[in-house]
This record gives sequence, C-alpha cells and structure tokens, in this order.
Amino acid sequence: MSFPKNFFWGGSSSSAQVEGGYDCDGKGLTIWDVRPLNPGCCSFHYASDFYHHYKEDIALMGEMGFKMFRFSISWARILPNGEGELNQAGLDFYKNVFHECHKHGIEPLVTIFHFDLPLALQQKYGNWNDCRMGDAYVNYCRILFENFKDDVHYWLTYNEQNMLIYYGAVDMVGGTMKLQNMNDLYNQAHKQLVAQAKAIHLCHELCPNAMIGPAPNITTAYPANNDPINYLAALNNDDLRNNFYLDALVYGHYPASLNHYFEQNGIHIDVQEGDFECMRTCHPDFIGFNCYGNDTVEHCDYYPLDLSELEHGDNRSMSYLQKLSEKPGIVKTVNNDKFLQGEDGHRFDPYCIRVTARRLTDRYHLPLIITENGYGRPDTLETDGTVHDSYRIEHLRETIRQMSIGIDEGAMLIGYCPWSAIDLVSTREGISKRYGFIYVDRDEDDEKAKQAEMKRYRKDSFYWYKKVIASNGNDLD
Ligand code: BG6
Repeated sequence: MSFPKNFFWGGSSSSAQVEGGYDCDGKGLTIWDVRPLNPGCCSFHYASDFYHHYKEDIALMGEMGFKMFRFSISWARILPNGEGELNQAGLDFYKNVFHECHKHGIEPLVTIFHFDLPLALQQKYGNWNDCRMGDAYVNYCRILFENFKDDVHYWLTYNEQNMLIYYGAVDMVGGTMKLQNMNDLYNQAHKQLVAQAKAIHLCHELCPNAMIGPAPNITTAYPANNDPINYLAALNNDDLRNNFYLDALVYGHYPASLNHYFEQNGIHIDVQEGDFECMRTCHPDFIGFNCYGNDTVEHCDYYPLDLSELEHGDNRSMSYLQKLSEKPGIVKTVNNDKFLQGEDGHRFDPYCIRVTARRLTDRYHLPLIITENGYGRPDTLETDGTVHDSYRIEHLRETIRQMSIGIDEGAMLIGYCPWSAIDLVSTREGISKRYGFIYVDRDEDDEKAKQAEMKRYRKDSFYWYKKVIASNGNDLD
C-alpha cells in the first residue's frame, strides 16, 4: 500500500448544500435559494445548518483525522449582489471556518464557485455569454485572494464546469429545466474557461504560496465492445466531456476531433484575440476532479437531437441523465452489465478512479486531488444513535484499494476528499439521499428544519474512515 506520507485524506461539501442560513447576516439570494424543487424534497434554505454548527462539524472532522476539508464559499454571502457591496459578516464567517480548520490541523480546499450563482447576477446578465458575468467572477476571486491569502493554500476555480455544459442542454443546475441552445452553451463554456484562466493568473500574482486548480467531473469512457468504432466513440467522449476543458486549461487549445461535432450541431466558438494565450500561460498547479462512475459508450450516427421531453421529465431518473449524455454524431452511453446497479441508480465501478487517475497523469503530468466520489442513499438512525452504513464502507474500501494500486502504477494522486464529509442536501434528491460520514438529524420538512436542533451522529463509516486515515490507507478492514 503506497499512499504518500502527506496524503490529503479528507471529505467534501458545498455551500448551498450544507450551510443553510440562506438569509442570515446579509447573505444575498442565490439561484439555488429559488430553484424549483422535486416533489417531496426539502429546499436548500436550512440544509445541514453548517452555518451555525461549523465548529462542532470541523471538530468531528478533526476527530476523524481529516488532513483536508473541501468546501465552497457562497459568492452571495461575500457579495450579496454578486458584485458591488461587500458583506463583512460573510468574510468573517469564512475567516472563522478557516481558523477552525487550522486549529484541527485541516487544510481547507476552497471551491470558489459550486453551482450557487448569486441570483442578482443571473437577473442582470442572464448567463456567461454576457462578459460582465466573467468579469464579476474574476472580481469575486480577487476579493477572496486578497482577504484569504494567509488562510487558504488550495483553491478550486469551479465545481464541474464541464457538467454545466455537457449535461447543460437542459439547465438542471439552475433548476429551470429550460432547453438551452448548444451554440450559446459552448460559447458560455469558452468564456468561463477564459475567466478561469484570468483567475488563476491573479491567484499566482496575489497568493504566491497558494496552489490553484479546477474541479471538473472527469471519468473514463469504456467502449461497449471490441468494435474499433466504439473505441473511437470512447476517445471522442473523452474529448467532449473531459479534454475540452482540461486541454484548454493546461495547453490552451481545444481537441481537434470535436470540430466535426461542432459543425454538425451549429456550434461556432467566438474566440477573441488573446483567449488561448491567456489559458496557455495560466499554469494550474494541480487538477482536482470529481469521479463517481465510468461512462460506457458506443458510436452513434448524427441525427437532430430532440430533448423537449426532458423539459417536463424527472431529472432524478437514470434515463434522464442518459438522454442528456446522448451526443449524436459521436457517442451515446449504454448500460454496463459488468457492474451491479446500486440504490442510487449508478453502477458501482471501483476501477474507474484508478483508470482515470492514470489517464490524467499521463496527459497532464500534474498532481491530482479527488475532490468528490462517494455513495449516496438513505441511512437509518437507530434508537441508540448509531448508523450502520456498511454499504458505504464497502464502496469506499474498494475505491481506496484501487487508488492505492493506481499510485503504485504512477498515478500522481495527492489527496482524496469523498462526497461528503457530512450529510447534506443532494442536488436533486433532498436530504434523504445521504453521503456523509456524519449523520445530520433532519428530514425533508423545511418547517421542522427551521427549528430543528440538527444533532450530529457518527456513522459506522466515521469510525472506519478514522482508522483508514490513521493507518495512511493501510488498514481498510
Ligand atoms: C456532484 C456535485 O456532481 O455530485 C455535487 O458536484 C453533488 O454538488 C454530487 O451533490 C452528488 O450528486 P447528487 O445529485 O446525488 O447530489
């Protein structure tokens, strides 16, 4: 077993999904505070109330032995309107969170933007095709770098920018379920990538001791069978889903294989002079990536895609996600019967993290931090305060085993922050779909959550992960 000595064992969360306190102390509204909810699911208003429990939560992470805690800053807590007036209470809150982390020997890994765009920005600018959105992002980054340069040594630019685009033909994250125009979407992607590069330049200038990288959702496509056409589909999938974003970030260009796909879909990216140069010279220090499962794919001929049925569909179903990942002209995802389907609908493939970490190492030669990975499903709080989540332990154990072999094979992994450090609200399935090592006692009822004590309980996985960390990944029993 070969985890490096200073390996960053930890866990992840995001502001909208864990903090609550949606209208506390001057915070502005975000698009997640007003997004339509799936039936029976709680809102993000109270979440796990990390806003009022952060000391206790970070102490529990310290007890587990965390070396790193990944969380995001709520843009609207710092800048209630996304730009303009600063909210001192927001800055103070995160200062206190950083202080608690350091007190417990935990390195904060801070995501600058994890889906919860300030509502005022969306109302003013619509989307990222208005350059003022990217400017607002870079300005927000500057405020963070200036205020937190002594507190934060690891920054993440965006969470899953690639999924906002790749799955973004229907805007699930904004929650509007409105069909989006593909040309518009890819031009937004380009502008986000330029803004990201500007933010990285700025970070290197203002925080010379800090490291900064992205946090896309990266996986590997397996060809459905031994037909070379499906191997090509897998390569194309990798270019569209992963390399489009990471090649731009690391090398300052887009994969040429996508030109045909862009032509077929009427996509013309409006590149301005200096855009690629700005990307090419920004030099990220590491790559963070979320990885939950593989894509298994086959070639698919071109046909005009009709996604209108999705506007009224159930975005929790696997068929919904599968439809969104259909890319006529190059690739389509199919079921992989080698892996069993879990209660969350995903087929658990412990290998994909190893395969993906090796591929990223070969392509980019940069240190890697797994910023998300995990197993979401309901848990039961027993009357004696225990939570027996052996299914989660099994999932993490197999994943960590594969990571360790991957490191032996040369994968440059330096940290593992599974989703999630503590129970939080799922993007589409409320609080009942739980991922954490720490159980938060609340249900889907927002009215009750408003007053709830939200007591914390240590799950079985809490004790197991503590042992894993103490043995630096050697004791997985
Ligand atoms: C990741 C997101 O894609 O998946 C998280 O970055 C999200 O925000 C996680 O919570 C799990 O997905 P879900 O839909 O179960 O919450």
